[in-house]
Amino acid sequence: MQGASAAALLSVIPRKSNAGPTHRVASSSPRPAADKSKSFPEKFLWGCATAGAQVEGNNTTSDLWALEHIPDGMFKEPSGDACDHYHLYAQDIAMLADLGFNTYRFSIEWSRIEPEEGQFSSAELNHYRRVLTACREHHLATLVTYSHFAMPLWFAKKGAWQNPAAPDRYARYCERATKHLGDMIDFASTFNEPDVPQLLNWFTLPGTEGGSMAQMFQQALLKARTALNAPDFASFFAADPQKTRDGLLAAHAKGKSAMKSVRPNLPVGFNLAMSDDQPAPADSHLADKRAETYGPWLEAAKKCDYLGVQTYSRSIVGKKDLPPPKGAELTQMGMEFYPECVEGVVRYAAQETDVPIYVTENGIATNDDARRIEYYRRALAGLKRAIDDGVDVRGYVTWSLLDNWEWMFGFEPKFGIVAVDRATQKRTIKPSAAYLGDIARRNSL
Ligand code: BGC
Repeated sequence: MQGASAAALLSVIPRKSNAGPTHRVASSSPRPAADKSKSFPEKFLWGCATAGAQVEGNNTTSDLWALEHIPDGMFKEPSGDACDHYHLYAQDIAMLADLGFNTYRFSIEWSRIEPEEGQFSSAELNHYRRVLTACREHHLATLVTYSHFAMPLWFAKKGAWQNPAAPDRYARYCERATKHLGDMIDFASTFNEPDVPQLLNWFTLPGTEGGSMAQMFQQALLKARTALNAPDFASFFAADPQKTRDGLLAAHAKGKSAMKSVRPNLPVGFNLAMSDDQPAPADSHLADKRAETYGPWLEAAKKCDYLGVQTYSRSIVGKKDLPPPKGAELTQMGMEFYPECVEGVVRYAAQETDVPIYVTENGIATNDDARRIEYYRRALAGLKRAIDDGVDVRGYVTWSLLDNWEWMFGFEPKFGIVAVDRATQKRTIKPSAAYLGDIARRNSL
């Protein structure tokens, strides 16, 4: 992958062709002759992902910050300084590149960039330009998410995605951010996992006798409106799922056009949350689940330059998603240890959309780093099988670079390949980072 000229070279990603972005892995030592049976396609992107709210710290103008501070609210603990990535981004990016990766996926935070409606902060835009410059200096491709769950508090108080004005408000932000940053972005994403409001409807909360997570969030929404004295408040997680989806779909289309109006050749897509859905032996509603959760987004993806897919496990789909099979190994998130989900998801997504696929999140929450290595080993073996069968996958980005703030669950789940001591902000590289970084450097299993 190139440094200064990466954006220019990446400028057009032809759809439905084998030409990928022009990246090569920066490496100080010559590569050993590749064993073709183990190697990945040329210019394959290997990266790590983060999201602003989870690592930057002190996103005080966001809706989540307000929600985190509601007494007995839905968050286990507030994000606080998180990983202080806002200040430590340069060392984190250098570390990521040193490990062998050639790509960094991160989000820019709308609530910092537009902290009050119509008031854009050049200082914050310049901050993200410095982050992008650091990536460029380390020859990293940049995958930039414009909206990763969090939003400005003012926008949430106006009903978030449910407000008919939301798509225009979002497009205005997209235009402004792209004007300031677009020349440094290799791949833009309008939304991280916009299908989550629908997916939540299929998850059953353990011990709630069929109660879905969506219902839990509805209760949290009512509480938040009272606590914040904001009767129209809505958030990404806590809102009317149908209205939110309509708003997000319209905002995606307008946001994408706004980005393209500034830089027509900017590759734009989004990141879809997907489970490797498998039918229950009886009464499976798998087709309904797929139509309800992914359907409209897979349609939208057909008009994009790429689709990012994000997967962590499988779901056995009955009337709803069934609990993991008895005796299955579980991750810290209570999910089944099932790394083969990557293979299932990329095959399905490619078949449905026919656009280039990038795995933009995959990983495991565990304190046992040896299990993380095993997870990657099996996930990548599956990914390789799919690629060998002709599935057009062009990158693998793991979640996550750092142990970070895992939304409602606080800091407990450990997804990182790098540990963070939150008292000192010291980073400690785990063996899984070296394992995955070596694969990235060699572009080969
Ligand atoms: C989200 C991340 C999250 C990860 C692990 C994805 O749903 O995009 O923000 O931390 O999963 O739960």
